Amino acid sequence: MDKTVFNSFNSSEKILHHIDKLDHFFNGGKTLIVTEFDLTNKCNNNCPLCVGVKENGSQLTWDEIVMIVKGLKNLGNRGVIVSGGGEPLLHPDFIRTLELIKNAGMEIGLNSNGLALTREKCEAIAKYCTYFRVSLDAGTPEMYLKTHGMNAKAFEKVCENMKMMAEVKRETGSAVSFTAGFLTGAGTVKDMEAFVALCKECGVGAAQFRPFTGDRTDISAEYDRLKAKYEDDNFKVKASLQKYTKFCESDCRGYSKCRGMFFSTVITADAKVFACLHHRQEPDFLIGDMRGEGKTLEEVWNSYRKWMVYENIDVTKCPPYCRNDSFNAVLESLEADCVHKEFM
Ligand SMILES: C[S@@+](CC[C@H](N)C(=O)[O-])C[C@H]1O[C@@H](n2cnc3c(N)ncnc32)[C@H](O)[C@@H]1O
Repeated sequence: MDKTVFNSFNSSEKILHHIDKLDHFFNGGKTLIVTEFDLTNKCNNNCPLCVGVKENGSQLTWDEIVMIVKGLKNLGNRGVIVSGGGEPLLHPDFIRTLELIKNAGMEIGLNSNGLALTREKCEAIAKYCTYFRVSLDAGTPEMYLKTHGMNAKAFEKVCENMKMMAEVKRETGSAVSFTAGFLTGAGTVKDMEAFVALCKECGVGAAQFRPFTGDRTDISAEYDRLKAKYEDDNFKVKASLQKYTKFCESDCRGYSKCRGMFFSTVITADAKVFACLHHRQEPDFLIGDMRGEGKTLEEVWNSYRKWMVYENIDVTKCPPYCRNDSFNAVLESLEADCVHKEFM
């Protein structure tokens, strides 16, 4: 039986498993837990609603990757999400980047559209990654055209590649959590079942639902039905419940500051550090430009500008249920004044 444990995306709980980081936060210091890392802005898909900023076509050099990974290690960062930007599998140093990050002692998550997978890349993913999520967002070629702007041939190729990844995982006995993602919205819900059935057929460990940023389409009934119909010991149906369950709350924020930016950051393919993945390339969220300013990651991260960005972020203008949302709420409550807290 596949013993892979899929988490419940419960970041509000996960933040409490990093007490040393919370200590650093309140006392100043190494707070970084997770970094989203864009290797390249080049992409081989054409998703109409893509949130990745890839207009400038940038790509990190190997020397920059080495400098950044060293910096992440020195800053005590723990997880690296290799994502985009563009499509990480297209970076010529993709395999040795995974090796470098892993050898620096950090866990790796990988988001990819899966089109450029090869057996060699599958083997590296199986060896170095903690999780690998293929952004599929369809169960049929028709939906793939809508969500990824790609034809049936590309869809079939990705399905074949997912089967190859499942085979490599089996053959190597890898513990990588191998899943496929589906972004939900009014225009995509009708493909949810076809997507789940396809994932199961391709040997993926779990089919995962997340909402398109800002979309509040309720999928709960269909999600429950698909879970009951398709789950077994080797296959799970998952959803980012921390986001979906917030849809019905009137005040969906519950915090006034983005303290999450001290724990979770983004490094883009033009070697810039941004406070948030939803605000890549927005000047108000720019913590520093390693390439442009000739600075190391440590210099950028420890700069005064990080605090200026923090002070200036107006969370009411941010997209709802962002990555930091659930632990921002926890962090706000940790800072609250508690009357008579000495008398427990
Ligand atoms: C921009 S993609 C780049 C990485 C890689 N090319 C991929 O397809 O996963 C990074 C992540 O953003 C997600 N994404 C893209 N557009 C989105 C949207 N409109 N709302 C929410 N997530 C989105 C994708 O599902 C993927 O997990």
